[in-house]
Order: sequence, then structure tokens, then C-alpha cells
Amino acid sequence: MDAVALTDIVKTFGRLRALDGLSLNIRAGTIYGILGSNGAGKTTMIRLIAGLLAADSGEARVLDDPPGRPAVLARTGYMPQTPALYEELTVHENVAFFAACYGRRDPAAADSAVEFVGLSDRSDSQVRTLSGGMRQRVSLACAIAHDPAILLLDEPTVGVDPALRVQLWGRFRDMAARGATILVSSHIMDEAERCDTLGLILNGRLLAEGSVAEIRARTGAADLEGAFLALAGSVDEPA
Ligand SMILES: Nc1ncnc2c1ncn2[C@@H]1O[C@H](COP(=O)(O)OP(=O)(O)O)[C@@H](O)[C@H]1O
Ligand SMILES: [Mg+2]
Repeated sequence: MDAVALTDIVKTFGRLRALDGLSLNIRAGTIYGILGSNGAGKTTMIRLIAGLLAADSGEARVLDDPPGRPAVLARTGYMPQTPALYEELTVHENVAFFAACYGRRDPAAADSAVEFVGLSDRSDSQVRTLSGGMRQRVSLACAIAHDPAILLLDEPTVGVDPALRVQLWGRFRDMAARGATILVSSHIMDEAERCDTLGLILNGRLLAEGSVAEIRARTGAADLEGAFLALAGSVDEPA
């Protein structure tokens, strides 16, 4: 079953076609990595799946419903590219607040999300006292405390140190093993290697898709970075 199905999605901002006929499917219980340069359309795609933006045309389905339906929202976790947190609230208060917005009013759920991101010792600190990497982690905890079926992570580990990044990826993998579907945008190639499926997006379209091995094989490149440069380089920029 596909947890996400996008068909021919067009989303314009004025004259700019941020998504230009984007089609892609994400199988339930898998980790899908979306890669692409700045401005390729990754965040726009994620916001559309999160129900925050409406497409101009095309069809989007999330858990078999149009995105943005209350039943879908309650099962979606969204970690935006830039953390949106309440500075004056503590870590725990932020996480509990977002969990409550998703309908989960259980302090233990907030505790375990804070623990998940390794911030138990800062649970009672106001967010304004935290470093950038810590804020990223709070933002992640806010996205997962209600145990979503779909987790949308927009460049989640920017500013997170490598040891914690490895740990978080272990947790993402556990969540997927328990049936969650995870969409993650990234620029980081060792992170991309951990995804079940990779999609390369360019100018709002899906340029290539496959497993890490398939994408390497298709281009003959030794590593993913080389493979994606080869794929992106094979397409002419629009005039
Ligand atoms: N709200 C907006 N208003 C106008 N242009 C936007 C808006 N959001 C995104 N864009 C434009 O859409 C394109 C895709 O942006 P985005 O989806 O953020 O790309 P990415 O996340 O891959 O860097 C960019 O050219 C960006 O400037
Ligand atoms: Mg982005």
C-alpha cells in the first residue's frame, strides 16, 4: 500500500512553477529520501503532503485521503526545515503542546519523545536557552510525540552532530520497522544511503528514483554523490 501518492502535482508561486508535474509514490513502512539542490521543490512537496499548501492541479493522497483532512493530520508528524518553537516554553512544554494539538494529551508521550532525541536532561530548560542543534532535536520531538503514521522530516539533521545523527537514524529505522512511513529531505549523502528509496527532484519534477544500489548502477558512479551529479548534469536547465 502507498502511504503517499502524488500524481502530476503542479504548484505555482506567481510565475514560478515550484512543483511542475511531480508524481511519486511512497510505500507504507518505508523510508523515502528526497534529494535535490536548493529551490528544487523539496519543502514545497513536503508542505503539500503535510496539508499546509494546496496544489494548483494534480492529485495528492496521504493514507488514502486528501492531505489536510483532520483524520490524516492527526496521523502526520511534520518537522519543518526551520524549527518553529515557543521560545519561552520549556522543551517538555513545547513537545506536550504539539502532541496535544495532534490530539495526544499524555505527559508520558512527551517524556518519551524528549528522551528519543536525547534531551531528557534539558527537559525543563526554556527553548531560548538551547543551541541550534538542540532546537532541531526539540522540533523532531514535537513531530513524533503523537506517534504518527507518517513522518515528514525536512532536513532534520542539519546542525546535529554526527554521533547523534547516527543514533537518530537508528530510531527512524525502528519507527519504519513498526510500520511508520518516513519522508526525509536531505543534502547529506551518508544519510541518503540509509533510505529504502531515493528520489532526485529537480525544477519541481522527479528526475530519478530507485534504491541506492539501483541509482549507483544506473550511472556507473562509485558513490551516490557522483551518481546524483551525473543524473542532475544530464538535464538541461530551463531557459
Ligand atoms: N511561499 C512561497 N512564495 C514564493 N515562492 C516560493 C514559496 N515557497 C517556495 N518558493 C519557491 O519555490 C521554489 C522551491 O522552493 P522549495 O520547495 O523551498 O525548495 P527546496 O526545499 O528544494 O530548497 C523556490 O524557487 C522557492 O523560492
Ligand atoms: Mg527546503
